[in-house]
Amino acid sequence: MSKCPFSGKAVNPTTLTSSNGAPVADDNQSRTAGPRGPVTFDNHYLFEKLAHFNRERIPERVVHARGSASYGTFTLTKSLSDYTIADFLQKEGQKTDVFLRFSTVGGGQDSSDYARDPRGFSVKFYTEQGNWDMVGNNTPVFFLRDGIKFPDFIHSQKKNPRTNLPDPQAVYEFWANNPQSLHQSTILMSDRGIPLSYRHVNGYSSHTLSFWNNAGERYWVKWHFKTNQGIKTLTSEEAAKMPAYGAQQDLVESIDNGDFPSWTVNVQIMTEEEARNYRINPFDLTKVWPHSDFPLIEVGQLELNRNVDNYFAETEQAAFAPSNLVPGIGASPDRMLQARLIAYQDAHRYRIGANYNQIPVNAPRCPVHNYQRDGAFAGVNPALAGSGANFYPNNRARLGEPAEIPEVQEPPMPLEQDAWLDIYDNRDEDNYSQAGDLYRIMSEDQKQQLVNNIADGLSQATQDVQEAMFVQYDLADSDYGARVREAVASK
Ligand code: NDP
Ligand code: HEM
Repeated sequence: MSKCPFSGKAVNPTTLTSSNGAPVADDNQSRTAGPRGPVTFDNHYLFEKLAHFNRERIPERVVHARGSASYGTFTLTKSLSDYTIADFLQKEGQKTDVFLRFSTVGGGQDSSDYARDPRGFSVKFYTEQGNWDMVGNNTPVFFLRDGIKFPDFIHSQKKNPRTNLPDPQAVYEFWANNPQSLHQSTILMSDRGIPLSYRHVNGYSSHTLSFWNNAGERYWVKWHFKTNQGIKTLTSEEAAKMPAYGAQQDLVESIDNGDFPSWTVNVQIMTEEEARNYRINPFDLTKVWPHSDFPLIEVGQLELNRNVDNYFAETEQAAFAPSNLVPGIGASPDRMLQARLIAYQDAHRYRIGANYNQIPVNAPRCPVHNYQRDGAFAGVNPALAGSGANFYPNNRARLGEPAEIPEVQEPPMPLEQDAWLDIYDNRDEDNYSQAGDLYRIMSEDQKQQLVNNIADGLSQATQDVQEAMFVQYDLADSDYGARVREAVASK
């Protein structure tokens, strides 16, 4: 016997009820006017079932619609207290609950887990000072360095609006017109473009984020989550034979079997002074910080150890946002990141509603006290469970109502001196060196896979697009260019 959460009375758990809690006499047959007659208007229970069914779907994410997630633990192995006041990064051995959602990017909810596509790697850290979301990918860079291009980029990579089919012309036409995509598209077309499973991917913040400490000093930071299962990948041919749901199955079954996947967590740290003098723009999302300049510092372990109980309630309603920051962790001038700071909360309000942070998977594990009120599905209004003041400042803050904490004010963000508000052309920043660096560290087999994968799509594009792409590959590395030309010609 369980207890009714409202009355406290014992309830027989086998009693089927309507959504208002009333026992249901028959869930198999509607009320009809005679044994062969039509259903009548008093069938409110039938209407409730059908009406609720009609509303079972929420809009799927406009990108990263297909995903899998589970809960786990982040264990700090190196204190970062010199760099940040973030409360979960202070003491070695500290543990923080996390929720990690993996995803593909371009396909709908029922697309294949084995698309050649980046894999999303979103981690929600439930810290005692609020949720920190690291909404990254399995790649250290991205296709773009300015958020204004994001909708055009995604349109070009999704299905053709007329045929609803993949469109290699659009994919390569966008890249031909945007050489800044070359580094990321080289990763995508490499052997790493189709991971064997979510357990076999690295995760990266990709963006430069920041730490700030008690002395008001700021450090620029990139996060790297290296898979302890090793990178494992599939060729396009192998991927085509896999069941669409294979990565979801792999994640659920490995955790159910106690084979918990884990990642070694590292950071790269740059001082403000180093950033000012660095030869590479440290806030350009199309670039990495070479390890030889900024070595990885190991700081923790992340383990996934609990599957969700309900896919819709938890994985589908999960709402990650780069703006979910906590004291000690801040953003950076990266203009892609700046665009994302606004985009995600807006997406959640559209997809799940204004109170999406009250849904259990999104709700902070620490108390939430503020003066926001009401709205659809407001479970409990915050601040003294909704009965306290609903405005601020108020005279009651002294008596325990929520009040500001000036100590968590982020240090000021430096601006370039003599900066003018204007549109600055950043298209010709070096688009090629790091794509070339990547090409040059590849084995012979990886280079072969890369050029073949490129040729599969590029050979279906028009000649002007092919020529523009050949020039880009040449500029990255002349051998890269020569081999792609050859592979396209042989198709
Ligand atoms: P390093 O030789 O120090 O590091 C190379 C990195 O490349 C390793 O972290 C390795 O990751 C990763 N890597 C190897 N093959 C691939 C592939 N096919 N796709 C993506 N990543 C791969 O060199 P640098 O730091 O000077 O970087 C050289 C190039 O390596 C960069 O231009 C970038 O493309 C790539 N890279 C760099 C990273 C960085 O933060 N510096 C991070 C990831 C990639 P792993 O240990 O997982 O095998
Ligand atoms: C999901 C927008 C760039 C990683 C999303 C969603 C939107 C979005 C609207 C769906 C959110 C939801 O409905 O829950 C944008 C915009 C970008 C951008 C406008 C550029 C300005 C990036 C970059 C990365 C990234 C650069 C990685 C480095 C992700 C991930 C998800 C996601 C991992 C899935 C989150 C989840 O698991 O629920 N993005 N995105 N995005 N984005 Fe972006």
